Amino acid sequence: MSNVRHFLSVTDLTPSEVREVIARGRALKAGEPSQALAGKSVAILFEKPSLRTKLSFEVGIHRLGGHPIYFSPEEVGLGKREPVQDVARVMSRMADVAVIRTFDHGILEQFSEAASIPVINALTDGEHPCQTLADLQTIEEAKGSLEGVKVAYIGDGNNVAISLALGMASTGGHLTIASPDGYVLPESVATHANLLNAANGGSLKMVTDPVEAVSDADVVYTDVWTSMGQEEETRIRLEAFKGYQVNPELLDKAPDGVSFMHDLPAHPGEEISDGLLTDPRSIAFDQAENRLHAQAGLLHFLFAGA
Ligand code: NVA
Repeated sequence: MSNVRHFLSVTDLTPSEVREVIARGRALKAGEPSQALAGKSVAILFEKPSLRTKLSFEVGIHRLGGHPIYFSPEEVGLGKREPVQDVARVMSRMADVAVIRTFDHGILEQFSEAASIPVINALTDGEHPCQTLADLQTIEEAKGSLEGVKVAYIGDGNNVAISLALGMASTGGHLTIASPDGYVLPESVATHANLLNAANGGSLKMVTDPVEAVSDADVVYTDVWTSMGQEEETRIRLEAFKGYQVNPELLDKAPDGVSFMHDLPAHPGEEISDGLLTDPRSIAFDQAENRLHAQAGLLHFLFAGA
């Protein structure tokens, strides 16, 4: 069990492995054939809604020769209908890899401790590392390099921001996060990112002013203000994030050539203005497509190596 590679956090890959996975994702996107999952079954268990993650995993698994089996939020009841560890043990007897989307990151950790197959985090309240692999691939494609790239993340210091901060710190980028008080990146994550930045040449800066954050940005990135599971906080969050909307006027304050990214789904009228996803500066749909390629890169890495 101890030799099994899980992917619960971006930091479960070394910085050079992150680069290998992204390179593989780009090669697969360019048409490199891989049957890394031939004869393998992949259990996909989601406790939250999904469009991109479900579609990209299922299509990617098929392309790699594998067989996906999807369990919807109502079906399994992790820790409710059956103990988390027992679900992990049963899946480990029949499937070759488990892709899990759930709420509490601790549940995923319990699952992976009991599993004897690789477990992939398809989003928890704590991290969204598969998104970050796609983000890094998208940034490298758009800007030519991850080292030294300047990204401004505007908004909530949530799961997406956490994984982005750790991923950029692994690959030598400069990240500025603009968040209102009370919604900043967790201190423990900033500490971890700073340690990685010291080794890899990147930096992390936290500010409150979105204009300051975008002033030298190559990429402006945002995510929803209210994540899945936080719906009852919607009103309070709409108030807290006033002034943090990414819109054409904010992008105009960034240098020429800036690109806009969003992990989607977006809430137009909240964190972005209507129509921003189709602004000429938006690369959000390339980013969405790269979920497919980056995750296929990860699966190839786990089953066929670098
Ligand atoms: N922060 C968002 C990301 C959705 C892909 C959420 O957790 O709902």
